[in-house]
Amino acid sequence: MTAISIDGNRRFTGCLRVPGDKSISHRALMIAALGQRPCTIRGLSDGDDVVRTRLAVEALGARVEVAESGEVTVTGGMSGTRKPIDLGNSGTGIRLMAGLVAGFDFTTTLDGDASIRQRPMDRIIAPLTEMGASINGRGDSGSLAPLTIEGRPLRGIEYTLPVASAQVKSAVLLAALRAEGPTTVHEAVPTRAHTEEMLAAAGVRLERGDCSVTVWPGEVDPPDVDVPGDPSQAAFWVVGACTAPDSDLTVENVYLGPARGGFVDVLQRMGADISIDSESGDIRARTSELKGTRVTAQEMPGCIDEVPILAVAAAAAEGTTVFEDVGELRIKETDRVAAVAKMLAVLGAECQVDGDNLAITGVGRAEALGSGTVDSRGDHRMAMAAAIAGAVGNGSMTVEGFEATHTSYPGFARDLDASTGRTP
Ligand code: S3P
Repeated sequence: MTAISIDGNRRFTGCLRVPGDKSISHRALMIAALGQRPCTIRGLSDGDDVVRTRLAVEALGARVEVAESGEVTVTGGMSGTRKPIDLGNSGTGIRLMAGLVAGFDFTTTLDGDASIRQRPMDRIIAPLTEMGASINGRGDSGSLAPLTIEGRPLRGIEYTLPVASAQVKSAVLLAALRAEGPTTVHEAVPTRAHTEEMLAAAGVRLERGDCSVTVWPGEVDPPDVDVPGDPSQAAFWVVGACTAPDSDLTVENVYLGPARGGFVDVLQRMGADISIDSESGDIRARTSELKGTRVTAQEMPGCIDEVPILAVAAAAAEGTTVFEDVGELRIKETDRVAAVAKMLAVLGAECQVDGDNLAITGVGRAEALGSGTVDSRGDHRMAMAAAIAGAVGNGSMTVEGFEATHTSYPGFARDLDASTGRTP
């Protein structure tokens, strides 16, 4: 395990670009694997999660060429593999892949790391089984990875998501491409829409309502993809610049589509000085005086991955910030409710967990944040949130398990130094 120490009192200035959006990267590879023609993906995330998905589609039969520039060309092909596919730490990888392979005439075993083996897969097993899929997992319930999926003919279903989850929606929509008849997914609150956006761009017949999407089976003709920057990674720099003194930083070319930019709304409500250029996707953030706010259950799907870094903003703010309905955070890469509570104890902010509500009372300004040691628990977003807290505080922060950043952002340490005027 790698521990790093981050000295505080930093300022965030200049411009930077973050890795390609992780959600879009996974989907670009999987959809390309279904196509017939070579398709080029530029700006793919360089994180380990997406590397695993790239290796997975290659193992399943797609041809994948990686140019020196990082550009990836995929020629579709799905012939299957007898070897288990290891999706590493990626919930998106394993859940979407289950939907992708369920209707093919071969058997696939999907596995992942120790964290993935603990995470619930029943949420995808239920709808895919209703479609006719055969999925067997480990454990008493048979619903933990590794999952063995025997390809079967599928039928279209009408499915209402019991939890707000783009991963479940996407697994069903990918399976729907090979089902008999159309499939409709309904959701109570809109979640990220990358799968439906990208399937439509690939010529799939699809109808979207406010909170529903219907997909008809058929061929996929994936276009070339330019992956925009990942808003979930931009959030770390935005919070850094809003909380640190004398800061003015721009993150360029960020994806600004639905259900991903909720963290900007939350921060602006807290008083953050953030401006967005909707043409270029640039987000500019400047030093601000932050105050507490209430993040409602309705808003949660739009900022679910940003709660660890928003918790740092709340810790530096004046007053109390309440996050409603954070239950889903308990089953992410780690139990993020517990991990955030531990980090806040180090930062000296008050934290109360009341059922599925998380209330954080801040210390009023970044310089008053405490420091010490935070363990990432193998969770990339916890490692990066703790690092930003260290950089804006006035002590020295040790982040244990910092290598978890490689899951989604291998260049995070370099970018932290570059955007705060340190030479690595
Ligand atoms: C993702 C959906 C979300 C999110 C994850 C990426 C996706 O998960 O937390 O990081 O790409 O579909 P859930 O579907 O479990 O909410």
